[in-house]
Amino acid sequence: MEYAISKQEYEKIRTLLYDESGISLGDSKQSLVVSRLTKRLRHLHMDSFASYCEYVTQDNSGEEFTRMLDLLSTNKTDFFREPKHFDFLRERILPTREKDKQIRIWSSACSTGEEPYTIAMTLYESVRTPEQWNFQILASDISTRVLAHAAKGLYAEERVREVPAEIVKRHFLQGRGDSEGLVKVKPHLSAIITFRRLNLMDDRFPIKAPLDLIFCRNVMIYFDRPTQERLVNKFYHHLKPGGYLFIGHSESLQWVSHPFKSIAPTIYWKEA
Ligand SMILES: C[S@@+](CC[C@H](N)C(=O)[O-])C[C@H]1O[C@@H](n2cnc3c(N)ncnc32)[C@H](O)[C@@H]1O
Repeated sequence: MEYAISKQEYEKIRTLLYDESGISLGDSKQSLVVSRLTKRLRHLHMDSFASYCEYVTQDNSGEEFTRMLDLLSTNKTDFFREPKHFDFLRERILPTREKDKQIRIWSSACSTGEEPYTIAMTLYESVRTPEQWNFQILASDISTRVLAHAAKGLYAEERVREVPAEIVKRHFLQGRGDSEGLVKVKPHLSAIITFRRLNLMDDRFPIKAPLDLIFCRNVMIYFDRPTQERLVNKFYHHLKPGGYLFIGHSESLQWVSHPFKSIAPTIYWKEA
């Protein structure tokens, strides 16, 4: 069965997505919405987008909204994606924290976990005495589905194919028997990461102690300018003086008003 979407139904879905997640779909993404949600409607034995809109709105658990969000947005991520940020962490930031041996980092749209685990690996690989450090990583996302995957720390072997073999060996367990073809992050990485559902649209984040670094990569691109501006200013508030914000390589804060100092194309600094 082919589904058609009316202007009102499209507007309804677009508004729901924007109000809850900040993601802006644009005026004419009707065909994208139809192609991404058709399978879901079929699965639910629904015959129209009108029924689906009602279903999402009435589901107070938020589960259907999460499914819709996952289908309409992208969770694409990778281990060591945009590696310059991890080089910067190793070369420029960690040496300055050597005295305190303490660092608090937030991976704020962590998807299936590759980003926070990459941060964790970078920490362990970069300092001389990791056992003496207090590493803390908060990893959050709006989608409970990707967070559940992230917390398991279980990946297909192909996902780490580009990671140097000795790093994989140090930080992943190789699956055997039923788990052949899978790798699982070792407990020393999981031990320093807390996974939690957080919506970047929330007025306040339940984060008490100030952070050294915030990673917010490859999600702001889906937000409109006022939403980006609000978010970046909230991030500023949660960083320590001398803290850093990393954004995705295809993102820019050029048109957004904020108090950060830009120190490299996608790296922003809260002056010490
Ligand atoms: C493309 S992934 C980016 C993953 C990772 N940061 C990276 O760069 O590889 C974007 C993630 O942003 C999440 N997201 C979208 N809107 C969000 C919001 N309002 N609050 C928190 N996370 C959100 C999505 O669920 C998705 O997992």
